[in-house]
Amino acid sequence: MPPSKISGKAYHEATKHSYLSVQADPNYVDASTQPSAFKFYPKFYRRVKLNLNNSIHSFISLTSAITLEKVYKNSLDKLRVNPSAGALYPTEVYVQLRKIQGMLDGIYHFEVENNSLTLIYELIDDGLESYIIPDKSINGFIFLISCVYYRSSWKYQNRSTRYCFLDSGHHLGAFASGVAKPLAASAYLHQKDIQLIFDFDKLALNLALGFENKEFITACAVSGELQEKKVRPLRMKIPFVCGTDYFEANQFIEDTYQATAVQKSSQQQLKQPQLRFEKDKFYQTVLNRRSVRRFRKKSISQEDYLYIMQQLQQPIPTENYEEIDIYSVIHRVEGMLCGLYKDTYLIKTGNFSEQTGYLCINQAIARDSAVTLFFVSDYLNYQTAMQIAGFLGQRLYLASNYLGIQCSGIGAFYDDETQELLETNKDELYGMVIGI
Ligand SMILES: Cc1cc2nc3c(=O)[nH]c(=O)nc-3n(C[C@H](O)[C@H](O)[C@H](O)COP(=O)(O)O)c2cc1C
Repeated sequence: MPPSKISGKAYHEATKHSYLSVQADPNYVDASTQPSAFKFYPKFYRRVKLNLNNSIHSFISLTSAITLEKVYKNSLDKLRVNPSAGALYPTEVYVQLRKIQGMLDGIYHFEVENNSLTLIYELIDDGLESYIIPDKSINGFIFLISCVYYRSSWKYQNRSTRYCFLDSGHHLGAFASGVAKPLAASAYLHQKDIQLIFDFDKLALNLALGFENKEFITACAVSGELQEKKVRPLRMKIPFVCGTDYFEANQFIEDTYQATAVQKSSQQQLKQPQLRFEKDKFYQTVLNRRSVRRFRKKSISQEDYLYIMQQLQQPIPTENYEEIDIYSVIHRVEGMLCGLYKDTYLIKTGNFSEQTGYLCINQAIARDSAVTLFFVSDYLNYQTAMQIAGFLGQRLYLASNYLGIQCSGIGAFYDDETQELLETNKDELYGMVIGI
């Protein structure tokens, strides 16, 4: 397909799973060939080890930290605050710091494996603002999320762009939760809420950051004091450093990224969420968040279910927005009829647990859950819509885990058959399960 023909919708259509497509290509890979999931800049760059007793450091660390190391099939898996499809972790984080006490003004790469920041660019009269919010300067943080797409396309091939965008949204969700801690602990970020930005000059930034075709910016999150001041674009290009130990290009993915990076998103008024979590318990939830591997088929209470749904209805702090419809297929919620709900309104009754298990490519967690959820959308910008779906997914993990309810993302499902169950023409972006 020529790049001009690839839109988000065409990409989505071309990467649908069906019973036949999964039988024909079950995605088996040789695990020993997995590309590395950590990016390192060369050793001569200056590094700052993050100290968790420093609230600024802990704020940055909490956006991406490793929270569990476990041995799996002879290799050591390093699981993080953010979940990731297949634990492949395509996302990277960069942060520009300006006027942050104790830190040089500059652009840093977050080196996750060593919990440190690598200073890759020192600011003079230039900065990232000119690509994101021209004519303004931010004293504070500008976070960028990027995807090293081969980490995911190695396994999921063309469908991997979906997972890159969803993972990126989850990562943004981890940022937003990280804010809670320093806000409580320090006056630094006093009244400095976080704002997510999806519409900005991503292609120019990819060039300036020296990403070649191997890594691409998906989103930005800013937190700080905004000033009316023009900041120059970066005066030098940052050298290319590969985010994997080896790389295989995929033109279809690169074209899809480019097309969905320039399309404008729908717009909304900026509103901050009012999340009322008890801070210390929430902090522990962020550190202990995990994906469920098996449910015991227990019911959850209606009160807990409604509380979780309320958190999903809270505003997402961004002006670039795509509306997501949430369908819940309820299997085990005390006091609620089994059936299909849109938000919390009943559409049809019935026990659909076997069906949702089948639709999610025969995954038992989608059958044994208390609720299997599906996020659908009729978006303008696919890249934004998928990231908003991932962001909501992160909220769902945290709100459920906060109540002791397990959760998992589900990226693999039979697209068209799921739409039939939901009785919708909107694209099915993401599935999720919660339960005990
Ligand atoms: C976009 C996305 C899709 C996922 N899809 C599935 C899935 O289809 N089945 C599953 O069992 N887990 C799925 N997961 C969960 C990941 O396997 C899990 O996040 C990863 O193994 C890391 O483990 P952790 O979340 O416990 O840290 C998905 C996660 C994400 C973010």
